[in-house]
Amino acid sequence: MKQYAIITDDNLAKIYKKELSELYPNSFLCVVRAGEKSKSLKTIEKLTSMLSKKNFSKSDTLVAFGGGVIGDITGLLASLYMRGVTFINIPTTLLAMCDASIGGKNGVDTEDGKNILGTIYQPHAVIIQPKYLKSLPLKEIKNGMAEAIKMAIIKDKKMFNFIEQNREKILKKEILTLKKIITRCGEIKSEIVENDEKDTGSRHILNYGHTIGHAIERASNYTIEHGKAVALGIGYENQIALNKKTIQKSEVDRIQKIFNDFALTEKVKKVSMKKLHAGILHDKKRKNDTIHLYLPTSIGSAQAYDISLKDIQTVLV
Ligand SMILES: NC(=O)c1ccc[n+]([C@@H]2O[C@H](COP(=O)([O-])OP(=O)(O)OC[C@H]3O[C@@H](n4cnc5c(N)ncnc54)[C@H](O)[C@@H]3O)[C@@H](O)[C@H]2O)c1
Ligand SMILES: [Zn+2]
Repeated sequence: MKQYAIITDDNLAKIYKKELSELYPNSFLCVVRAGEKSKSLKTIEKLTSMLSKKNFSKSDTLVAFGGGVIGDITGLLASLYMRGVTFINIPTTLLAMCDASIGGKNGVDTEDGKNILGTIYQPHAVIIQPKYLKSLPLKEIKNGMAEAIKMAIIKDKKMFNFIEQNREKILKKEILTLKKIITRCGEIKSEIVENDEKDTGSRHILNYGHTIGHAIERASNYTIEHGKAVALGIGYENQIALNKKTIQKSEVDRIQKIFNDFALTEKVKKVSMKKLHAGILHDKKRKNDTIHLYLPTSIGSAQAYDISLKDIQTVLV
């Protein structure tokens, strides 16, 4: 009989104990510690031996039940285990519902940086059930909004307006409002991925805020969450956009205001600038002394520019 291995983290295993035991027939649970630190090759190795002990075979299926961390680990494991097994992604955070569960990218972090090892491997299905957001801490709703706002800035002014007007409802986790945002983000991301699945060009637009955001995450030793780091990264990258005159100041102020409204600009423990500068050098999109960056031209659109390391480092003060 076909087996299902459900990969989840220890927070979710506690909250959804009963639900997880009934999710799939003939299933077993593999629990990893919650948090970015679990996105490592060590976890992949541990999970591999758990699967082997259960005689998990090529005809069996992995299920990711969790946020972006669990999705990234499970996707990578699925692409590697016995050279590829099917996997199903059930995202449980707003961030994973809006962004991480779609598009097939996965990865783990190494000493050298974020997502240094990874593949592009599509899930068999992505099952989005906003009911799981009921147990999600408010802080994680805010982190998810960072990626949703990112999508709005690069592609959809209407969604940006909608988010501005519905802040209270979002923070109250009103399900219909969140569903609208999740649906629209899914449409935007799918369209971008369909045009450049292998991430060779136009898909880089999704990386807006991430060159500096990833460096912030790493420099903080992953104490700053991905969503918040992306919001901070967007703040810095917008400063580059202002210096390059790609966008007007009034637009940048509006973006900064929306991040303030979701407490995504609150002071964070000081990140070492030295580490931050070093992190930029590890960016996957770097070519010699320039990085291909998408910068906004107005709310709802962005364009690619080759930005020198010097111009990036100028804003990191
Ligand atoms: N593959 C991609 O395309 C892609 C895109 C964006 C982000 N990411 C990655 O996603 C990761 C961030 O994902 P995340 O923000 O979902 O973080 P996460 O997976 O660490 O989850 C955040 C926290 O919420 C808890 N949690 C999750 N669901 C819950 C629920 N329903 N109820 C209660 N608690 C719950 C988790 O235990 C964890 O403590 C980063 O590693 C980032 O690099 C990947
Ligand atoms: Zn991201």
